[in-house]
Amino acid sequence: MTTSANIAAAISGFEATFGYRPTGVWSAPGRVNLIGEHTDYNQGYVLPLAINRRTYAAVSLRSDSTVRVASSFSSQVHEVQLSEIANDTANDWAGYPLGVAWALQQLGAQNASGFDAFFDSDVPVGAGLSSSAAIECSIASALNELWNSNFDRQILASAGQLAENSIVGAPTGIMDQSASMFGKADKAIFLDCKTLEAQKVELGFEKENLELLIIDTRVAHRLVDGGYAERRAACELGAALMQVGSLRELSSADLARAETVLDEVTLRRVRHVVTENERVLKTVDLLRSIGPRAIGDLMMQSHSSMRDDFEISVDELDTAVDVAVRHGAIGARMTGGGFGGAAIALAPIDKVSEITLAVIAEFELLGYAKPNIFAVSAAEGARRDA
Ligand code: GLA
Repeated sequence: MTTSANIAAAISGFEATFGYRPTGVWSAPGRVNLIGEHTDYNQGYVLPLAINRRTYAAVSLRSDSTVRVASSFSSQVHEVQLSEIANDTANDWAGYPLGVAWALQQLGAQNASGFDAFFDSDVPVGAGLSSSAAIECSIASALNELWNSNFDRQILASAGQLAENSIVGAPTGIMDQSASMFGKADKAIFLDCKTLEAQKVELGFEKENLELLIIDTRVAHRLVDGGYAERRAACELGAALMQVGSLRELSSADLARAETVLDEVTLRRVRHVVTENERVLKTVDLLRSIGPRAIGDLMMQSHSSMRDDFEISVDELDTAVDVAVRHGAIGARMTGGGFGGAAIALAPIDKVSEITLAVIAEFELLGYAKPNIFAVSAAEGARRDA
């Protein structure tokens, strides 16, 4: 769909559900992480980009304190009082927008009132492309304007994270919402998750005739399942045993000491985070000095580290990465929280169809579900569309 068709779909969905015309439409993009995985909640570095897949929220304020949310991806209309939003209000997608309405008030929104919202989206769900952050950032932008809150983009990003942590129950970091709020065309967002300083880094893919491919394995991942929280706990244990506030404080030079202090599994979790932070910094340097063709090895090292040390990859992701690189990708890696979802492959344009066909064929041979493969480009962050 084109942007204007998405906006029209959000408006007509709103009208069909609520019987009147919405005040406006706000949208926010999904994201893909180029490198820096499981580093955000360790106060480290990440390098995501907002992608050209968005969630559109058609919204109107109400004069009472009722909140109604509906979407094109579910037939249910959730209705709740603003003051009654809690962590058991909704156990499906509605937890994200309701959670944001709650979180904005926790962060100091003064003029909160009820609202009606209808969501339409072309961000694939469960693919590790942050469909949830796209919902959160679209409604955060809408309510920020309609409630006259005047929060900056950083606070709106933290509202999304707070919603996810406290209402949805996923102990995620700040990367996804930051990418969705700060995205820029052709740029990655280099975020220091300790200081929350966000710098734009030129990707230069088009100039180099490169495409960024998403290989959605269709192995559904859910961040509320145990694996993500377990990895986070291991990182916190590692930091405590190494007597630092967060793993961000450690570098490769500390790994010899880590070997003497940590058990074997915790050591590998810590080693992933420490080396991944260093890979993000190197990737930023290489993008700025040489260009995107130079970052392939770092992507590969990142994948191996997630497969072997952090143990969050699955066979489908490993296969996607191997096949993509064997057929000409410059680099590839799983992206996002892990345990399923998508891999990315940075590929010369003239290799894209070969890679796509080869991955599909190999998945078929191995009896895996058919992967969904498509190119994305770096896009603008959250905004008002209508
Ligand atoms: C998910 C979380 C992020 C981040 C990544 C892993 O996307 O929402 O905060 O931790 O996993 O890098």
